[in-house]
Amino acid sequence: MSTWADTARALALVAGCVASAAWAGTADTAAARAALGRTATAAEVAAWDIDVRPDFQGLPKGSGTVAQGQKVWDGKCASCHGDFGESNEVFSPIVGGTTADDIRSGRVAAMTGNQPYRTTLMKVSTVSTLWDYIHRAMPWNAPRSLSADDVYAVTAYLLNLGEIVPADFTLSDANIAGVQRKMPNRNGMTTEHGMWPGRGRPDTHNTACMKDCEATVKVVSAMPDYARDSHGDLSQQQRGFGPTRGVAALASAQAVSVAAAPMAPGAKLTGQYQCMACHALDRKVVGPSFSDIASKYRGQVDAHAALERKVRAGGQGAWGSVPMPPQPQIPESDIRAMVGWILEAK
Ligand code: HEC
Ligand code: HEC
Repeated sequence: MSTWADTARALALVAGCVASAAWAGTADTAAARAALGRTATAAEVAAWDIDVRPDFQGLPKGSGTVAQGQKVWDGKCASCHGDFGESNEVFSPIVGGTTADDIRSGRVAAMTGNQPYRTTLMKVSTVSTLWDYIHRAMPWNAPRSLSADDVYAVTAYLLNLGEIVPADFTLSDANIAGVQRKMPNRNGMTTEHGMWPGRGRPDTHNTACMKDCEATVKVVSAMPDYARDSHGDLSQQQRGFGPTRGVAALASAQAVSVAAAPMAPGAKLTGQYQCMACHALDRKVVGPSFSDIASKYRGQVDAHAALERKVRAGGQGAWGSVPMPPQPQIPESDIRAMVGWILEAK
C-alpha cells in the first residue's frame, strides 16, 4: 500500500538523480570517478574467489567417502548423469573409456583412437578441475548448493567408478595430490596450441589464398554418404528436440519419401512411439528388421498375442542379447495395431 512516506521517498530519489547528473557534467575528473562505489569486502571477494588451481591452491579443507558420495550421487546427480555416470541423456557420459593401463601411463589410449565418444574421466587431466567444476556448477539445477564435504564425497564416488580409487577410499584435501598422480589422462594436457598464452601462434596452419581463389563461398550442411542408413529413416522419426522431422537419411531415401502413399495406422504408430529409433523395415538397427520379424513368425497363430506381450513388457533373447525396453505406457489397441502391421511386413 502506498503511503505519504513512500511518495516522499520516491520524490527524494528523483531529485537525487537529477542532482547527480548535474554533478557528473561539471566534475568529470578521474578522482571524482574513483570516488564512486566502494572497495569490495573480504566476504564479497571470497564469494567469487572459489577457483581451485591444479596445485590445489584455493581448495577448501574437508573430506568425503565413496559411500557418502554414492548417496549424494543417487540423490542429486543420477537423474541426469545415470546411476553410474554412464548416461548420455543430458550430457556426455562422465565415467567410462579408461583402463588400468591408462592409470599407469597417465595417457588415455582411447583418446588417440577412433573411440566415438569421450567421457569426462577420459579427458580431464587434473582432479582439481573435476572438484572445482562440481563445486561451482553442479547439480546443474542448483549450483553451489553442495558442501565442501559433499563435493569431496561425490568426486570420490566418480573416481571409484573410474577405478582410480578403491571403494573404501576417503578423499580429502590431505590426499588429493596423491590421487592426481593416478588420473588416467594426467599426461594428456598439451600447451602446443595458440590458446596457450604468450605464444602468439595460430591454431591453424593454412596459408591465405592469393590467386585463382574461390569467388564465392557456399555454406552447406549435408549428411555425408557414409552416415546414411545408420539410424533408420530419419524422415519417419520424431527427433528428440521439438516437432522437427529429420532429413531423408536412407541411401534409398527417394523411394521412401514422406509424401508417399498414406501410411497404415500401425506404421504411423511405430513412428509416434519411437520404435524406429531401434527398428527399420528391412534392416537390423538395434533391434531386428520388421521384415525379419514377420518372416520368423509367419504362420504361427499365437504370434500376435506373444509379440504384443513382448512389446509391452520388453525383453531379450529372441534375437540376441540386446534387450528391448518395456513400454507399458502404450495403449493395448496401439500395440495391437503396430504388431499387426509388423507381422505383415514384406
Ligand atoms: C539437471 C541435470 C543435472 C544434474 C542434476 C547434474 N548434472 Fe552434472 N551436468 C549436467 C549438464 C547439462 C552438464 C553440462 C553442462 C555444460 O557443459 O555447461 C553437466 C556437466 C557435469 C560435469 C562436467 C563434465 C565435463 O566433461 O565437462 C560433471 C563432472 C558433472 N556434471 C557432475 C555432476 C554431479 C557430481 C552432480 C550432482 C551433484 C551433477 N552433475 C548433477 C546436468 C546435470
Ligand atoms: C531401444 C531399442 C528398441 C525400441 C525403442 C523398440 N525396440 Fe523392438 N526390439 C528391440 C530389440 C533389441 C529386440 C530384440 C529382442 C530380443 O532379442 O528378444 C526387439 C524386438 C522386437 C520385436 C520382436 C520380438 C520377438 O520376441 O521376436 C517386435 C515385434 C518389436 N521389437 C516391436 C517393437 C515396437 C512395436 C516398438 C515400439 C513401440 C519397439 N519394438 C521399440 C529394440 C527396440
